[in-house]
Amino acid sequence: SAPTEVLVESPADFHVHLRQGELSEIVTPHVRKGGFDLAYVMPNLKPPITKTEQAVAYGESLKAIDSGVDYLMTLYLSPDLTPEEVRKAKQAGIVGVKSYPRGVTTNSDGGIESYEVYYPVFEEMQKCDLVLNLHGEIPSDAASNTCVLNAEDAFLPHLKKLHEAFPKLRIVLEHATTRAAVDMVKSLGDTVACTITAHHLAMTVDDWAGQSWHYCKPVAKYPSDRQALQEVVHQGHPKFFLGSDSAPHLAHTKSVATPTQPCAAGVYTSPILLPLLAHILESFGALDRLQGFVSDYGRAFYRQPAGANARRIILGRVKGIRVEDTWPLGGDCVVPFWAGKEIGWEISD
Ligand code: NCD
Ligand code: DOR
Ligand code: ZN
Ligand code: ZN
Repeated sequence: SAPTEVLVESPADFHVHLRQGELSEIVTPHVRKGGFDLAYVMPNLKPPITKTEQAVAYGESLKAIDSGVDYLMTLYLSPDLTPEEVRKAKQAGIVGVKSYPRGVTTNSDGGIESYEVYYPVFEEMQKCDLVLNLHGEIPSDAASNTCVLNAEDAFLPHLKKLHEAFPKLRIVLEHATTRAAVDMVKSLGDTVACTITAHHLAMTVDDWAGQSWHYCKPVAKYPSDRQALQEVVHQGHPKFFLGSDSAPHLAHTKSVATPTQPCAAGVYTSPILLPLLAHILESFGALDRLQGFVSDYGRAFYRQPAGANARRIILGRVKGIRVEDTWPLGGDCVVPFWAGKEIGWEISD
């Protein structure tokens, strides 16, 4: 019979955007509000976090906002990242390096163009045991028939090639959206893992086409792709774990597009993350995989056992609780995923 309570120990979000400035002050505490005690923090600020000192200072600023969460910091792959900088980063406790192919996502204008130029950096990362986090999309290109729908498929050969060149380097394919990605990650060695978001377990193309609040990169794909993501979570496959890619944007940038300025890409899930995941996993019969998916598998891959901030979260079944509409910021606001909709779980504690 269906449980009325679920215990989840030390939930960890292995991919989250905590922003900077006023927006950061609003969204950083929402990691804990959403049930989590570990945040693997993305470096795509303005300017991007490319140097060790910046990442350390950013981590301190997040701690000053909420010290109840462990923040794992990352660098943004750029020409600033030399093998020497990799060693420095490792010593300073930085955990990974995120690579954004040029032009494909928010604040990625300074992203990578070719991986070969970074081989000496990856060699050093492999030696120092830093993790490589890949935004796995190829930029759209009419000549090669590449667009948002096949951008991830087209990226997968690069993942395979990188893994073959650096078999001991831990690599995470971030926010996978396709069956092809699931199959590829399964086919590679144990040093390759994959994050999956809550929203990609829930959406397909139909949910974001004409619905700017649901627009994110990579875009949600076909029903058969969502099915593959749900299946691998249902299996409790340890290479596949949560990275929410919670990516807040001010409402006016989400809701308004012009012919020259598309709406911002990103779905904001942090404040409701654990109840949302319980709701979504239960919808496809995988509620008993929640602990593995949101905590055990990611912590094992990253070698991050529960720390001083560890929490034991009790989720209670509710008849239906409405997701809060907006979080005000100045004259604007941020709006969470599923705002106004009802979910069937809440944090009891
Ligand atoms: C973000 C910011 O200010 O940190 N901008 C925004 O929400 N309008 C950065 C971003 O999402 O690009
Ligand atoms: O939708 C997205 N938003 N995808 C990303 O990769 C970046 C993120 C953001 O920073 O807004
Ligand atoms: Zn990304
Ligand atoms: Zn992201």
